[in-house]
Amino acid sequence: YRVAVFASGSGSNFQALLDASRAGNLGAQISLLVCDKPQARVVERARAAGVPIFVFTPKEYESREAYERLILAELEKAKIDLVVLAGYMRLITSVLVEPYAGRMINIHPSLLPSFPGKDAAGQAIQHGVRVSGATVHFVDGGMDTGPIIAQRAVEVMAEDTAIELQARIQDTERLLYPEVVSWFAAGRVKLEGRKVVLFNNEH
Ligand code: GRF
Repeated sequence: YRVAVFASGSGSNFQALLDASRAGNLGAQISLLVCDKPQARVVERARAAGVPIFVFTPKEYESREAYERLILAELEKAKIDLVVLAGYMRLITSVLVEPYAGRMINIHPSLLPSFPGKDAAGQAIQHGVRVSGATVHFVDGGMDTGPIIAQRAVEVMAEDTAIELQARIQDTERLLYPEVVSWFAAGRVKLEGRKVVLFNNEH
Protein backbone atom coordinates (compact mmCIF):
# COMPACT_ATOMS: atom_id res chain seq x y z
CA TYR A 1 0.00 0.00 0.00
CA ARG A 2 1.63 3.18 -1.22
CA VAL A 3 1.19 6.58 0.41
CA ALA A 4 2.14 10.05 -0.84
CA VAL A 5 2.47 12.84 1.73
CA PHE A 6 1.90 16.49 0.72
CA ALA A 7 3.55 19.01 3.07
CA SER A 8 4.74 22.62 3.06
CA GLY A 9 6.50 23.05 6.39
CA SER A 10 8.35 21.35 9.20
CA GLY A 11 6.99 17.90 8.47
CA SER A 12 6.53 16.55 11.97
CA ASN A 13 3.48 14.62 10.74
CA PHE A 14 5.48 13.36 7.75
CA GLN A 15 8.14 12.14 10.21
CA ALA A 16 5.56 10.42 12.42
CA LEU A 17 4.12 8.59 9.39
CA LEU A 18 7.58 7.59 8.21
CA ASP A 19 8.57 6.33 11.66
CA ALA A 20 5.33 4.33 11.95
CA SER A 21 5.94 2.86 8.49
CA ARG A 22 9.49 1.82 9.36
CA ALA A 23 8.35 0.34 12.67
CA GLY A 24 5.85 -1.79 10.74
CA ASN A 25 2.85 -0.06 12.33
CA LEU A 26 1.37 1.49 9.18
CA GLY A 27 0.98 -1.46 6.83
CA ALA A 28 2.03 1.05 4.18
CA GLN A 29 5.08 2.61 2.62
CA ILE A 30 5.72 6.37 2.37
CA SER A 31 6.48 6.34 -1.35
CA LEU A 32 6.53 10.05 -2.26
CA LEU A 33 6.77 13.51 -0.72
CA VAL A 34 5.08 16.35 -2.63
CA CYS A 35 6.19 19.81 -1.47
CA ASP A 36 5.51 23.34 -2.74
CA LYS A 37 8.43 24.91 -0.83
CA PRO A 38 11.96 23.89 -1.90
CA GLN A 39 13.40 25.27 1.38
CA ALA A 40 10.99 23.46 3.72
CA ARG A 41 12.39 21.32 6.51
CA VAL A 42 10.20 18.41 5.36
CA VAL A 43 12.30 18.20 2.16
CA GLU A 44 15.42 17.59 4.28
CA ARG A 45 13.61 14.93 6.26
CA ALA A 46 12.56 13.10 3.09
CA ARG A 47 16.03 13.38 1.58
CA ALA A 48 17.61 12.01 4.78
CA ALA A 49 15.20 9.07 4.69
CA GLY A 50 15.61 8.36 0.97
CA VAL A 51 11.94 9.06 0.20
CA PRO A 52 11.37 10.21 -3.43
CA ILE A 53 10.52 13.93 -3.57
CA PHE A 54 8.49 15.98 -6.03
CA VAL A 55 9.13 19.63 -5.20
CA PHE A 56 7.79 22.56 -7.20
CA THR A 57 7.45 26.36 -7.01
CA PRO A 58 3.80 27.39 -7.54
CA LYS A 59 4.53 30.85 -8.95
CA GLU A 60 6.38 29.28 -11.87
CA TYR A 61 3.01 27.95 -13.14
CA GLU A 62 0.16 29.86 -14.69
CA SER A 63 -2.49 28.20 -12.53
CA ARG A 64 -3.12 25.77 -9.69
CA GLU A 65 -4.46 23.29 -12.24
CA ALA A 66 -1.20 23.47 -14.23
CA TYR A 67 1.04 22.26 -11.39
CA GLU A 68 -1.60 19.84 -10.14
CA ARG A 69 -1.53 18.08 -13.51
CA LEU A 70 2.20 17.47 -12.98
CA ILE A 71 1.54 16.23 -9.45
CA LEU A 72 -1.13 13.86 -10.78
CA ALA A 73 1.35 12.40 -13.26
CA GLU A 74 3.84 11.81 -10.40
CA LEU A 75 1.16 10.14 -8.25
CA GLU A 76 0.19 7.84 -11.10
CA LYS A 77 3.80 7.00 -11.92
CA ALA A 78 4.45 6.11 -8.26
CA LYS A 79 1.20 4.05 -8.14
CA ILE A 80 -0.04 5.95 -5.08
CA ASP A 81 -3.04 4.44 -3.25
CA LEU A 82 -3.60 7.20 -0.68
CA VAL A 83 -2.75 10.92 -0.63
CA VAL A 84 -2.11 12.28 2.86
CA LEU A 85 -2.03 16.05 3.33
CA ALA A 86 0.13 16.97 6.33
CA GLY A 87 0.48 20.73 6.63
CA TYR A 88 0.08 21.30 2.88
CA MET A 89 -0.89 24.96 2.85
CA ARG A 90 -2.77 25.07 -0.47
CA LEU A 91 -6.27 24.36 -1.65
CA ILE A 92 -6.62 21.40 -4.01
CA THR A 93 -8.70 21.55 -7.20
CA SER A 94 -10.75 18.90 -8.98
CA VAL A 95 -7.64 18.00 -11.03
CA LEU A 96 -6.50 15.99 -7.96
CA VAL A 97 -9.69 15.71 -5.89
CA GLU A 98 -11.62 13.78 -8.54
CA PRO A 99 -9.04 11.08 -9.40
CA TYR A 100 -8.37 10.60 -5.66
CA ALA A 101 -11.98 10.80 -4.43
CA GLY A 102 -12.16 8.71 -1.25
CA ARG A 103 -8.36 8.37 -1.30
CA MET A 104 -7.20 11.82 -0.18
CA ILE A 105 -7.17 12.89 3.47
CA ASN A 106 -6.12 15.91 5.56
CA ILE A 107 -5.41 16.59 9.22
CA HIS A 108 -6.50 19.82 10.85
CA PRO A 109 -5.66 21.10 14.36
CA SER A 110 -9.22 21.66 15.64
CA LEU A 111 -12.43 19.72 16.16
CA LEU A 112 -14.04 20.54 12.80
CA PRO A 113 -16.35 22.13 11.82
CA SER A 114 -15.03 24.61 14.43
CA PHE A 115 -12.07 26.76 13.42
CA PRO A 116 -11.24 25.81 9.82
CA GLY A 117 -8.45 27.62 7.98
CA LYS A 118 -5.31 29.21 9.37
CA ASP A 119 -4.32 29.46 13.05
CA ALA A 120 -6.91 27.03 14.38
CA ALA A 121 -5.29 27.01 17.84
CA GLY A 122 -5.32 30.83 17.98
CA GLN A 123 -9.00 30.80 16.99
CA ALA A 124 -9.74 28.29 19.76
CA ILE A 125 -8.01 30.48 22.38
CA GLN A 126 -9.84 33.57 21.07
CA HIS A 127 -13.20 31.86 21.47
CA GLY A 128 -12.34 30.56 24.93
CA VAL A 129 -13.31 26.95 24.18
CA ARG A 130 -12.41 24.39 26.89
CA VAL A 131 -11.80 21.55 24.45
CA SER A 132 -10.20 21.51 21.03
CA GLY A 133 -8.37 18.73 19.20
CA ALA A 134 -7.44 17.23 15.87
CA THR A 135 -9.57 16.06 12.95
CA VAL A 136 -8.75 13.75 10.04
CA HIS A 137 -11.12 14.20 7.11
CA PHE A 138 -11.50 13.49 3.41
CA VAL A 139 -10.49 16.32 1.07
CA ASP A 140 -13.26 17.81 -1.07
CA GLY A 141 -11.82 21.01 -2.51
CA GLY A 142 -13.10 23.30 0.25
CA MET A 143 -11.02 24.60 3.14
CA ASP A 144 -11.12 21.84 5.81
CA THR A 145 -14.68 20.87 4.80
CA GLY A 146 -14.69 17.20 3.73
CA PRO A 147 -16.35 14.23 5.51
CA ILE A 148 -14.84 13.51 8.96
CA ILE A 149 -13.02 10.21 9.55
CA ALA A 150 -11.61 10.57 13.09
CA GLN A 151 -11.24 13.15 15.86
CA ARG A 152 -9.28 13.36 19.12
CA ALA A 153 -10.03 15.89 21.84
CA VAL A 154 -7.34 17.99 23.52
CA GLU A 155 -8.15 19.95 26.67
CA VAL A 156 -7.50 23.70 26.63
CA MET A 157 -5.75 24.82 29.84
CA ALA A 158 -6.58 28.13 31.55
CA GLU A 159 -3.16 29.65 30.88
CA ASP A 160 -2.67 28.22 27.38
CA THR A 161 -1.21 30.38 24.63
CA ALA A 162 -2.00 29.54 21.02
CA ILE A 163 1.53 28.16 20.66
CA GLU A 164 1.22 25.86 23.69
CA LEU A 165 -2.18 24.58 22.59
CA GLN A 166 -0.93 24.05 19.03
CA ALA A 167 2.03 22.03 20.36
CA ARG A 168 -0.24 19.72 22.41
CA ILE A 169 -2.63 19.28 19.49
CA GLN A 170 0.33 18.34 17.29
CA ASP A 171 1.42 15.71 19.83
CA THR A 172 -2.04 14.21 19.36
CA GLU A 173 -1.86 14.52 15.56
CA ARG A 174 1.36 12.51 15.49
CA LEU A 175 -0.47 9.63 17.18
CA LEU A 176 -3.80 9.94 15.37
CA TYR A 177 -2.60 10.32 11.77
CA PRO A 178 -0.52 7.11 11.53
CA GLU A 179 -3.40 5.21 13.15
CA VAL A 180 -5.90 6.49 10.56
CA VAL A 181 -3.51 5.75 7.67
CA SER A 182 -3.17 2.19 9.00
CA TRP A 183 -6.98 1.83 8.79
CA PHE A 184 -6.83 2.77 5.10
CA ALA A 185 -4.00 0.33 4.43
CA ALA A 186 -6.09 -2.39 6.07
CA GLY A 187 -9.13 -1.49 3.93
CA ARG A 188 -11.14 -0.37 6.97
CA VAL A 189 -12.32 3.03 5.65
CA LYS A 190 -14.75 3.73 2.83
CA LEU A 191 -16.43 6.87 1.53
CA GLU A 192 -20.01 6.32 0.31
CA GLY A 193 -21.22 9.65 -1.05
CA ARG A 194 -20.55 12.01 1.89
CA LYS A 195 -20.80 9.21 4.45
CA VAL A 196 -17.69 7.70 6.04
CA VAL A 197 -17.91 3.97 6.84
CA LEU A 198 -15.42 2.40 9.27
CA PHE A 199 -15.05 -1.39 9.56
CA ASN A 200 -13.93 -3.33 12.68
CA ASN A 201 -13.27 -0.09 14.41
CA GLU A 202 -13.47 1.07 18.01
CA HIS A 203 -13.40 4.75 17.01
C1 GRF B 1 -0.36 20.51 11.54
O1 GRF B 1 -0.78 21.11 12.74
C2 GRF B 1 -1.55 20.22 10.67
O2 GRF B 1 -2.70 19.94 11.39
C3 GRF B 1 -1.72 21.53 9.96
O3 GRF B 1 -0.42 21.96 9.69
C4 GRF B 1 0.48 21.47 10.70
C5 GRF B 1 1.63 20.78 10.03
O4 GRF B 1 2.69 20.54 10.89
N1 GRF B 1 -2.57 21.36 8.79
P1 GRF B 1 3.92 19.61 10.41
O5 GRF B 1 4.49 20.23 9.13
O6 GRF B 1 3.42 18.23 10.16
O7 GRF B 1 4.92 19.69 11.53
